[in-house]
Amino acid sequence: MTRNHPKIEHLNDMRLRSEAGGGPDRVAKQHQSGKLTARERLDLMLDPGSFREIDAFVVQRERNFGMDEADKQFLGDSVITGWGTINGRLVYVYAQDFTVMGGSLSEAHAEKICKILDMAVKNGAPVIGLNDSGGARIQEGVVSLGGYADIFLRNTLASGVVPQLSVIMGPCAGGAVYSPALTDFIFMVKDTSYMFVTGPDVVRTVTHEDVSFEELGGAMTHNAVSGVSHVAANTEEDALFLIREILGYMPQNNMEDPPFEPTKDDPLRTEEALNDLVPDDPSKPYDVKEVIRLIVDESRFFEIHEHFAQNVVVGFARLGGHSIGIIANQPAVLAGVLDIKASEKAARFIRFCDAFNIPIITFEDVPGFMPGTDQEHGGIIRSGAKLLYAYCEATVPKITVVTRKAYGGAYCVMNSKHIRSDLNLAWPTAELAVMGPDGAVSIIFRREIAEAEDPVERKAELVQDYRDRFANPYVAAARGYIDDVIVPSETRPRLINALEMLQNKRDTNPPKKHGNIPL
Ligand code: HXC
Repeated sequence: MTRNHPKIEHLNDMRLRSEAGGGPDRVAKQHQSGKLTARERLDLMLDPGSFREIDAFVVQRERNFGMDEADKQFLGDSVITGWGTINGRLVYVYAQDFTVMGGSLSEAHAEKICKILDMAVKNGAPVIGLNDSGGARIQEGVVSLGGYADIFLRNTLASGVVPQLSVIMGPCAGGAVYSPALTDFIFMVKDTSYMFVTGPDVVRTVTHEDVSFEELGGAMTHNAVSGVSHVAANTEEDALFLIREILGYMPQNNMEDPPFEPTKDDPLRTEEALNDLVPDDPSKPYDVKEVIRLIVDESRFFEIHEHFAQNVVVGFARLGGHSIGIIANQPAVLAGVLDIKASEKAARFIRFCDAFNIPIITFEDVPGFMPGTDQEHGGIIRSGAKLLYAYCEATVPKITVVTRKAYGGAYCVMNSKHIRSDLNLAWPTAELAVMGPDGAVSIIFRREIAEAEDPVERKAELVQDYRDRFANPYVAAARGYIDDVIVPSETRPRLINALEMLQNKRDTNPPKKHGNIPL
């Protein structure tokens, strides 16, 4: 066997030491707790053999409080950084290594992440952070806090320039949560990940509430209750697979268009089932996800915030190979009403799509904004304005399909023609009006109904009259607020045609430092 030059042998030894992380015992402990190591995660997420590591020989700073010499010898410290490819496209990555001092964030660890964020912005490629960390390295005190702040600044400056994705695969606590929170999408793994600003012990001391880790900040808490997380994955493998998939809808950076993916799904495919999908009775629900699946390429819909504010549905799909963002009122949940959470969910998604040149398609069936003191006192005015602002500000191609109700303020908000929508189509079942027929006649004809011989019958007549006159798409179409009324089965070819018509759309906002979205 030939021997390498001693210096190459030394380098190989160094690499092996770096790759060993916190050593076999801690790796075994990681596996016992149902988690993969940082390197195993990167191997699963990236194209085989594509990972190029940098800063594998970085070590933490000398003379930290309470640490002996052995502790300082972890080459690479507690995070692995570099780049690789996903489906052949460049991505920058960092994976916190829980086997090294609990993945805690030292000055060196922070510097490694900052270097990756700087490279991603300079070279225009997405960043993916795999988070699994006990938080600030306690021995380093304020230096570690400074490291967090250095990362927060870079996350903020990179926002809207390159896509930033976070996967939470273990603890993510204290101020550490704010780096993922500044990124575009947070994925969490069920049962093994949690996020909170203060843990159960502090909560018990301060508010006397007894709450488990899972209940306070587990994956389903943040996916269904707080909305902090956008995707809940059953396993780490699933989470990493979904990261590969979601990136396929995004461009590498804000200067590019999203990738076109040729499809075998016929762009001229019509779908008879759509003609009967909306019930005749306007108060009856239907599932808008069914509508989406019947229209998009290969029925594939990547839903964002699946468990949160389910009265609005948002996510990515493709039409004729073009990547699109979908916003759809969901009549099957709370009749598709817009409330605080739904408005914020949709607004944030619209802004992501707009920042990254992804056309927005809106399926509208909305009875209005949610009434009630809860909503008014909670700031539905401010939250509804966020949605309105997001739609108004967006300059990407914007298309609306009104499937049924477009009532009141929600008509204006949900990508109406007046706020720079490019094409507004309606199904024959569409009703565009200030309010539903029942409410409208009760207000306009209150006296007449009260004085009628048979008030119930009179009201029914008036409702029918109102419905015939206003609860249809033709009053809006007569003004050009609706560009065309289409047969529902033809929605897919019509949308693909519209996307192609809008491919070279140019629109801008007035020059300004930045707007003041009602936060
Ligand atoms: C240094 C840490 C550490 C930390 C864990 N370790 N957290 N070392 N700084 N923050 C070390 C442990 O000493 C241990 O070392 C190894 O990592 C694994 O930790 P365990 O406790 O054995 O693991 P586990 O039982 O799984 O518990 C995980 C844990 C717990 C829940 C995360 O370690 C924990 O509570 N850590 C402290 C969390 C915390 O309070 N962090 C500061 C938050 S404030 P050995 O050598 O035994 O393997 C913060 C502020 C950020 O982060 C502000 C930004 C603005």
